[in-house]
Amino acid sequence: MASLTVRQIDESVKKRLRLRAARNGRSMEDEIRVLLREAAEDAGRDAPDLTEPPNRAANAARRNPAAVPANTKRILLIVGGGIAAYKSLDLIRRLKERGIHVRCILTKAAQQFITPLSVGAITGGHVFTDLFDPAHEFDVGHIRLARETDLVVVAPATADLMAKMANGRADDLATAVLLATRAKVLIAPAMNTQMWAAKATQRNLARLIADGIATVGPNEGEMAEANERGLGRMAEPLEIAAAAGRLLAPQERPLAGKRVVLTSGPTHEPIDPVRYIANRSSGKQGHAIAAAAAAAGADVTLVSGPVTIADPPGVRVVHVESARDMLAAVEKALPADVAIFAAAVADWRVAHAGTQKIKKAPGAKTPDLTLTENPDILSTIAHRAKDRPHLVIGFAAETQNVIANAKSKLARKGCDWILANDVSPATGIMGGDRNTVSLVSQDGVEDWPPQSKEDVARMLVARIVSYLIPPPLAGEGGERSEPGGGRLRSD
Ligand code: C5P
Repeated sequence: MASLTVRQIDESVKKRLRLRAARNGRSMEDEIRVLLREAAEDAGRDAPDLTEPPNRAANAARRNPAAVPANTKRILLIVGGGIAAYKSLDLIRRLKERGIHVRCILTKAAQQFITPLSVGAITGGHVFTDLFDPAHEFDVGHIRLARETDLVVVAPATADLMAKMANGRADDLATAVLLATRAKVLIAPAMNTQMWAAKATQRNLARLIADGIATVGPNEGEMAEANERGLGRMAEPLEIAAAAGRLLAPQERPLAGKRVVLTSGPTHEPIDPVRYIANRSSGKQGHAIAAAAAAAGADVTLVSGPVTIADPPGVRVVHVESARDMLAAVEKALPADVAIFAAAVADWRVAHAGTQKIKKAPGAKTPDLTLTENPDILSTIAHRAKDRPHLVIGFAAETQNVIANAKSKLARKGCDWILANDVSPATGIMGGDRNTVSLVSQDGVEDWPPQSKEDVARMLVARIVSYLIPPPLAGEGGERSEPGGGRLRSD
């Protein structure tokens, strides 16, 4: 059988062929194969039109029903092997309802739960299963799959898939595509509660989030195992479709041109060159707010105490150790439109920190660590006569009388809003990934639902947007809309 060499084709034909192949999502070699097949089928009728101009989309669509119109959003859905895989059939429907073109990869384990046949019947296209698929690997299939998409959705994302992704494994089609793609990736984790809570899974999750991967769910509810419930159920198809829709929508940048300064994490107050006073703050909430503000277009300076999490993307980060350094860095970052103080600043420092390591000598008396008060950064900035940010937001992490303490803090510190949360050990908030906060302001107390720290961050940013850029008032005495759905009470 004769072999094909694109190089030997006339330059002008090659150019048109390239255009046509790109439009149809095929390699040039495959485009030629299609043309030859059509030519053979049409023998005696019209010869294939190699010179078809780009605007004859209808003709192209007739020849290649898989061709995707230029402005259609494309999702590559990777279905992992979990009981929630059956929901991916509904998810495909939900995505298609939104006019999204869906291609699907089933992992080997996913095929234990659903078949390529059922998925193909809903997507209306080929379902990909193998890294080395002779029918589709002619032009590095996994690379093309990775490139020809606007978003990759992994649903369900099993513990195993997450572990592979976090470690950059590429031993099957799904993981090879995930490694090769430049598109945004959204995962919908689904697994047993214990597997979700396992340190290794949480470590992998943190790694994936730090790598810029978006997540939706998991939700709380019944597990596949009898009599078990908890966190680990895959988000519902509608939720996943909505999250995918948000990621595909052109990025709104309502805070473009606004400057935001934040503090986050703990402070370390030196006792001597090797010892310090610290606290358990992880910085997760403050860093998430910095990321959400940057995603909304703000120019963000994050003054971070010592944390073990990654710097958020698109944010200017100043790393500091002590409260005094933190205050100096915040003052240097002014002027700003908004200042948010999420750091757990040590209230006291050692008055005379040793310049040498304090030695324990036989018979020597125990050192006296006299403490002195640290500057209150929030209060200092909120009371500034010059350059006070328009909106100053503090946090109140309390273990009792949360709202009452937050209200008195609002007045005492002179800030505009306080985000109050209960950090009693039983809540798991300190260092955890979820948070339940109330927004306390002069207008009252707004209780927000329990949610991930990223969602708290997005909700806060939405509130900041509507405060700085109020929507038009609906007639006399019209009310501002309150994004996020928090409940307002006036106690
Ligand atoms: O007084 P308390 O530490 O509970 O207040 C918490 C709020 O004040 C947080 O927003 C925290 O970042 C801020 N704060 C500060 N400087 C301090 C102590 C607290 O900015 N020295």
